Amino acid sequence: MGRLDGRVIIVTGGGQGIGRAFALGFAKEGAKVAIADINGPAAESVAAEIGEAGGEVLAVVADVSSEESTKAMAATVVGHWGRIDGLMNNAAMFQRPQITDGPIEEIPVEEWDRVMAVNLKGPFLCCRAVIGQMKEQMYGKIVNISSGTVFSGRSILHYVSSKGGVTAFTRVLAKQTGDWNITVNSIAPGLTASDPERDQSAYEGRVSARSIPRVQEPDDLVGTGVFLLSSESDFMSGQTMVVDGGAVMH
Ligand SMILES: NC(=O)c1ccc[n+]([C@@H]2O[C@H](COP(=O)([O-])OP(=O)(O)OC[C@H]3O[C@@H](n4cnc5c(N)ncnc54)[C@H](O)[C@@H]3O)[C@@H](O)[C@H]2O)c1
Repeated sequence: MGRLDGRVIIVTGGGQGIGRAFALGFAKEGAKVAIADINGPAAESVAAEIGEAGGEVLAVVADVSSEESTKAMAATVVGHWGRIDGLMNNAAMFQRPQITDGPIEEIPVEEWDRVMAVNLKGPFLCCRAVIGQMKEQMYGKIVNISSGTVFSGRSILHYVSSKGGVTAFTRVLAKQTGDWNITVNSIAPGLTASDPERDQSAYEGRVSARSIPRVQEPDDLVGTGVFLLSSESDFMSGQTMVVDGGAVMH
């Protein structure tokens, strides 16, 4: 028996990296997984992997920064499976495409706006799109992906600011939704080797800062995601769990 048996879970940004690991891991635990990504072929490819392994899966093209698109995403999932039990707000702009890692004067204003639109407004819009369905069910699990950089203060300025917003958003939304048995929690990953095309020394450079001294892989986040989307965490809300091998501690 899987820990997510029969649960309908949307994973945004599930087409690659950490989102792909979540999608595969949740399917292994028995969830019906909707992979929502702006990159349609990537979502289809992960869906094919899950389908070949016998899982129930749906690929949905969605831009989390668009209200219309997130509403359509939720409607597609409800139309297909009749409910939404979990939302993993994972999509974000971080390393692909590369964003400016530099002093405040060098961050283009348009880039600041786009990072906020995807990383902060995105989770807001996705939650807004699913919350009515979850309230009707009197049950739902929302997980927002923040970042360990919120606690370490490490660069990148607009990226970290957006993730600080995600942590704050998690707390307030948790207060707003508890009456309907909806939990809202967050995971703050450490630097994770999610991009095989990136210079791998960047990942190796973090190893010495960790209590568990090795490179963090996308699979390292799956167990916490499963826990926060399963009934095991039904009395826990508004929390941020740092998963980074014991680097920052809060
Ligand atoms: N990789 C890390 O080191 C790290 C560390 C801390 C937090 N995180 C967070 O973990 C999450 C996943 O990171 P990753 O490294 O796997 O990222 P990634 O760049 O590898 O993948 C992001 C996915 O989101 C999708 N996406 C981007 N914009 C979108 C949009 N507007 N609408 C829908 N989908 C969109 C992309 O197509 C891609 O599939 C992000 O929230 C990121 O901020 C990552």
